[in-house]
Amino acid sequence: MSTIQEFRLPGVIHFGWGAVQRVGEEAARLGRCALLVTGRSAMNRTGWTSRVQSILSAAGVEVVLFDQVESDPSVTTVDRAAGAARGEGCDLVVGLGGGSPMDAARATAAMAAMEGSIVEYVRGRPIDRPGLPLINIASTAGTASEVTSVAVILDEERKLKVGVKSPYWFARAAITDPELTLTMSPDLTAATGLDSLTHAIESYLSTGATPPSEALALRAVELIGGSLREAFANGADRPARERMALGSMTAGMAFANSGLGLVHGLVHPLGARFGLAHGLACGRLLPHVMRYNRPAAEDKLAAVDRALTGKERGTPDGAIAAVESLLSDVKVPSGIGDLDIPQDEMADLAKDGILAGAVRTNPRSVGEEDARRVLEEARRG
Ligand SMILES: [Fe+2]
Repeated sequence: MSTIQEFRLPGVIHFGWGAVQRVGEEAARLGRCALLVTGRSAMNRTGWTSRVQSILSAAGVEVVLFDQVESDPSVTTVDRAAGAARGEGCDLVVGLGGGSPMDAARATAAMAAMEGSIVEYVRGRPIDRPGLPLINIASTAGTASEVTSVAVILDEERKLKVGVKSPYWFARAAITDPELTLTMSPDLTAATGLDSLTHAIESYLSTGATPPSEALALRAVELIGGSLREAFANGADRPARERMALGSMTAGMAFANSGLGLVHGLVHPLGARFGLAHGLACGRLLPHVMRYNRPAAEDKLAAVDRALTGKERGTPDGAIAAVESLLSDVKVPSGIGDLDIPQDEMADLAKDGILAGAVRTNPRSVGEEDARRVLEEARRG
């Protein structure tokens, strides 16, 4: 090995049934007053917001609730949440929910300790200091934002979703409790699970992959490939939910270090311009990007085939077919042919996709014209 490699993780990860209880002791160690950042509906409807509030209060931590995070959190929302944290004198941020609330919590914790607006950092200002301590609690087996250091924020003015990342941005404590995923609908299970699968495959193929990230990513492919169908068909299947939560978390630990690839480059403009949910966009594009990457990743795609199917001998075509079969079983179409994306938007989508940092670690180099061709191919289905 010729270069020194780094591998970063949150301060501590609590994984398992009932792990959410740990938020009390972790929070009490880190502060006195927590801004609890969550979305507008799911966590309130399922009672998790009030349960987390009670656990925090019982541990002696005061709670200020900010439950206004929309899907795809915007610059405006993060600035409002950071204003609330500063105004109420919070010294800790707890995120609760899927990727959007956890990303918003991460950016809020940072901005509560920095001047100005998050928009400056979304547009490239370097992050030069730690934020408030952050605890993130995941409610989906998808984004894995509890174990990463990235926040995807919507720059409303430029209609761009931008991933902002910093080594300062790992949570002090991450909580992955499969119990919270039991209430996900089949559609949400499919979308978030496909996001995880894309993390695992893109991380494994990434030019930033290292031996530890590869080991975690390949195991994640196996876990997700072997349990997404069951979790989709029966949300109460606890072993399947546990394997999905573990798969999502390990994929997150891998990609937080290795980076991702072209799928994650292209899904952000598709989300920002056409409102396509992140996980669904990932799943729909994944086989098409795998096909594009094939010449640069034959052996790794063969290993993905083995991990997905349990076959002794894998092939790149087998991996692509296995992903397409999984998409069909969880009722998600491959490609974007049914989305009525106007022809004249394709070049702009490709251009925005290439701007995303994720493309830098794609295994095959990709220019604007290549990205447009992948989108065209995905449009044909
Ligand atoms: Fe993702």
